[in-house]
Amino acid sequence: MVSIRNCTVADLIAMQNANLTCLPENYQLKYYLYHYLTWPQLSFIAEDENSKLVGYVLAKIDEQDPKRGHITSLAVLRSHRKLGIATKLMKQAQNALLEVFDADTVSLHVRKSNRAAFSLYHEILNFQIQEIEKQYYGDKEDAYSMVLHLKPQTATTTTDKDGKKPTTTTAKEEPKAKPGKAPAKKKAGGKK
Ligand SMILES: CC(C)(COP(=O)(O)OP(=O)(O)OC[C@H]1O[C@@H](n2cnc3c(N)ncnc32)[C@H](O)[C@@H]1OP(=O)(O)O)[C@@H](O)C(=O)NCCC(=O)NCCS
Repeated sequence: MVSIRNCTVADLIAMQNANLTCLPENYQLKYYLYHYLTWPQLSFIAEDENSKLVGYVLAKIDEQDPKRGHITSLAVLRSHRKLGIATKLMKQAQNALLEVFDADTVSLHVRKSNRAAFSLYHEILNFQIQEIEKQYYGDKEDAYSMVLHLKPQTATTTTDKDGKKPTTTTAKEEPKAKPGKAPAKKKAGGKK
């Protein structure tokens, strides 16, 4: 049986090892520690019945916009894929972003060629493509910059001045909250 829980400082090395096994975007241990110390509520691990880490999600709040969350990294060991673990990890992180930080949106980057992850984000979790960031990755592959609104969008229907043509616009419930653009710059310490 696999269970999901908040990560602790004791999990960071196993998270880093899983990341090294699963992804080409890797980070120094101090970057995991920075996430843990700054946003301890936002990162989760999946562990098996022997307490072995089999997946993780590393999430944070945008340093420039406290209402915007970001998924730094997500991976599930090959032996445990297609069991719904990544979906559960992502939902835990999304929930914590909303409940603990009142975040409006969560963003992430994914390689254009990563069909499994894209399908998870788009089909299952309903992230939308915000833009394509050309040559975002170190090997020059493009990234989809994707965003998910964590709060309900309200649709308002109005008519034009003759009262004839209804137009529907979608606006956020909180006007100050804009779906911010993903950071254009490439981050030191690796990217996702
Ligand atoms: C992407 C990844 C995290 C998915 O983990 P997972 O636990 O297997 O995902 P889930 O079981 O929650 O799958 C949820 C959905 O993702 C999609 N998906 C997952 N694996 C897939 C695959 N191999 N091919 C196509 N779609 C896939 C499907 O839509 C799936 O829904 P379904 O089971 O109803 O078909 C995992 O494959 C992984 O760790 N890959 C390497 C690291 C990586 O790419 N991380 C993301 C970087 S942006």
